[in-house]
Amino acid sequence: MVLSGLLSRACWTSLNYLLLIGCLPPPGTQGQEFLMRVEPKDPVLPAGVSFSVNCSVDCPHPERISLETNLLKETVGRGLGWAAFQLSNVTGDTMVLCSGFCSGSQIVGSSKVKVYRFPERVELAPLPRWQSVGRHFNLSCLVSGGAPRSHLVVVLLRGEEELGRQPVANGEPVEVMVTVLASRDDHGANFSCRTELDLRSQGLGLFQNHSAPRKLRTFAMPMIPPRLAVPRFSEVETSWPVNCTLDGLFPVSEAQVQLALGDQMLNTTVMSHGDTLTATATAKAEQEGVQKIVCNVTLGDESRETRENVTVYNLQGPILTLSEPNATEGTTMTVTCKAGPRVQVTLDGIPAAAPGQPSQLQLNVTERDDRRTFFCYATLKVHGEILHSNRSVQLRVLYGPKIDRAQCPQRLTWKDKTMHILQCPVRGNPNPQLQCLQEGSKFKVPIGIPFLVRLNYSGTYYCQAVSSQGTDSLTVMMYVQDQNPIAVTITLGVLTILGLVIATAALLYVFRVQKRSDIYHLKKKSSWLPLTSKQPDEAVAEESS
Ligand SMILES: *[C@@H]1O[C@H](CO)[C@@H](O)[C@H](O)[C@H]1NC(C)=O
Ligand SMILES: *[C@@H]1O[C@H](CO)[C@@H](O)[C@H](O)[C@H]1NC(C)=O
Ligand SMILES: *[C@@H]1O[C@H](CO)[C@@H](O)[C@H](O)[C@H]1NC(C)=O
Ligand SMILES: *[C@@H]1O[C@H](CO)[C@@H](O)[C@H](O)[C@H]1NC(C)=O
Ligand SMILES: *[C@@H]1O[C@H](CO)[C@@H](O)[C@H](O)[C@H]1NC(C)=O
Ligand SMILES: *[C@@H]1O[C@H](CO)[C@@H](O)[C@H](O)[C@H]1NC(C)=O
Ligand SMILES: *[C@@H]1O[C@H](CO)[C@@H](O)[C@H](O)[C@H]1NC(C)=O
Ligand SMILES: *[C@@H]1O[C@H](CO)[C@@H](O)[C@H](O)[C@H]1NC(C)=O
Ligand SMILES: *[C@@H]1O[C@H](CO)[C@@H](O)[C@H](O)[C@H]1NC(C)=O
Ligand SMILES: *[C@@H]1O[C@H](CO)[C@@H](O)[C@H](O)[C@H]1NC(C)=O
Ligand SMILES: *[C@@H]1O[C@H](CO)[C@@H](O)[C@H](O)[C@H]1NC(C)=O
Ligand SMILES: *[C@@H]1O[C@H](CO)[C@@H](O)[C@H](O)[C@H]1NC(C)=O
Repeated sequence: MVLSGLLSRACWTSLNYLLLIGCLPPPGTQGQEFLMRVEPKDPVLPAGVSFSVNCSVDCPHPERISLETNLLKETVGRGLGWAAFQLSNVTGDTMVLCSGFCSGSQIVGSSKVKVYRFPERVELAPLPRWQSVGRHFNLSCLVSGGAPRSHLVVVLLRGEEELGRQPVANGEPVEVMVTVLASRDDHGANFSCRTELDLRSQGLGLFQNHSAPRKLRTFAMPMIPPRLAVPRFSEVETSWPVNCTLDGLFPVSEAQVQLALGDQMLNTTVMSHGDTLTATATAKAEQEGVQKIVCNVTLGDESRETRENVTVYNLQGPILTLSEPNATEGTTMTVTCKAGPRVQVTLDGIPAAAPGQPSQLQLNVTERDDRRTFFCYATLKVHGEILHSNRSVQLRVLYGPKIDRAQCPQRLTWKDKTMHILQCPVRGNPNPQLQCLQEGSKFKVPIGIPFLVRLNYSGTYYCQAVSSQGTDSLTVMMYVQDQNPIAVTITLGVLTILGLVIATAALLYVFRVQKRSDIYHLKKKSSWLPLTSKQPDEAVAEESS
């Protein structure tokens, strides 16, 4: 009573069954020639199924055929010498026993039931987030369930390639591991594992179960830090380039670069070529002093960093000023150059008395100072280095207008119907306007361009140069000659004849006087002749001068 109350019915049955196995008489001890058949004999079944068992015997008077099992059973048929049972929920390997009586003696038969089941879980353990190329990593597969274990193996795979194959030991769950050397080719590859339950020897198939794939990311990063190129010195508020390079990166597209000036991130342009990464930026410091510039390259789960110092200086100049940018001729003007404290300035070669002091230059402005350039040079010594900067400024002088009397002709003699240019240079700032008007007619003669001279151009011209700075004027006389060769020949002819007549008359007179005095002065005739013939030549020469 106490026993049955404590033990469940199933347990009681099992206990009965065990006792029965324990008390089984060794086969053939009672000299029986009949056999108890158990069908199916030693089946291999998937877990959880129901199946039926037929216990049969062919002795003449069979009695009390029964089935002993720890599974739930149900009698489904009975006939002469046989009994069939439905067994449900087979979850593990077990043994069923048929027993019966033939002519009063017990006969038994048994069948070993083998159960197989697919693994419930086939899972690849998570891979490293990033795997360094050239280092080993563990590829492990976790398997739960699956039976019989003696027929179960795990295969570890990269894509379709088999990396290892191992049997599954007993235990839940079981971890199967292979060690893999990471290469660049493994980047982006799918790793997975699969189980193989090989029941081909049992007359069944080969059953495979696959894990979900996991993608591996591999990377290569050199041990050396990046090369950072920056100037050692930089002027405040002045932009300068930053260039950071690192070679031997894989995969270069996954690399991240940060460039920072102090705490301020720089707007970085990243370019890659092969496995080289170059980051460039433009930096501008707003404060004097030593500033730190950092280049940080991150790839995978590693980063490399380089720091450099940039000394930022401030010359505060040089500031070069003119007291009057557009000075008037004759006034006094001051040029000043100054810069920050400790800065030495030099204006047009004249250094200031001391660093931090301005340099000044005073001058009485003349026309020659127009477009004169003043140059100021500033130097500062920082950490043993001489830093410099320069400025220049151009002076404009307001002067004029001035007509160049040496080059502008005041008397002109030209021939009618000939081409001529009237050249008359004028100086001044701003640029003066020059015009020459004929007295009376107000005819405006072209200046600086060729024109055809006419007889009526003769006259007095009043030339005037005008600018905002005043006026300058000059009178030009122009004579235009009628160009008639016949008239000239006639004049010459008349003059020659006239000369000859005078000469003849003079000779006759002299001859007479000589005859009386018997003295000859023949030489005088020769000195007379050229005098008369020269006269027209001289007149022409004087006119054309
Ligand atoms: C059990 O086996 C006997 C003898 O082989 C056969 O006659 C009988 O039909 C079987 N019963 C079932 C339900 O298969
Ligand atoms: C089958 O057996 C398992 C344990 O062995 C039990 O949990 C389950 O309820 C059973 N199923 C049926 C349908 O009896
Ligand atoms: C791989 O697994 C073995 C055994 O668990 C361990 O000793 C080793 O450190 C692991 N290797 C890596 C790279 O994790
Ligand atoms: C890896 O697996 C994913 C999906 O499982 C697939 O889309 C991808 O093509 C595979 N990659 C390679 C390299 O085989
Ligand atoms: C394992 O594989 C078998 C066939 O090979 C399939 O029927 C079963 O559903 C699979 N199990 C899992 C958990 O995927
Ligand atoms: C950056 O420096 C590398 C060498 O260090 C050079 O090849 C490259 O041209 C530089 N890039 C720029 C934009 O200055
Ligand atoms: C960074 O540079 C890009 C393009 O050169 C520009 O559009 C953007 O405004 C810049 N950002 C900053 C914060 O300077
Ligand atoms: C570089 O930058 C990354 C990402 O911002 C950061 O995690 C890492 O600490 C930096 N490296 C160093 C050495 O400061
Ligand atoms: C940068 O300057 C700091 C002091 O301001 C100094 O400790 C450090 O060594 C310098 N670094 C380099 C690379 O010169
Ligand atoms: C100086 O003169 C130039 C023309 O010569 C003019 O363009 C400029 O505006 C003037 N500057 C001043 C400050 O008067
Ligand atoms: C400028 O002219 C004044 C007089 O007009 C003269 O005293 C002075 O020395 C001159 N300055 C220079 C630099 O020539
Ligand atoms: C003046 O400065 C400019 C740059 O601003 C530089 O190119 C030039 O060489 C400098 N001149 C002298 C004489 O130093």
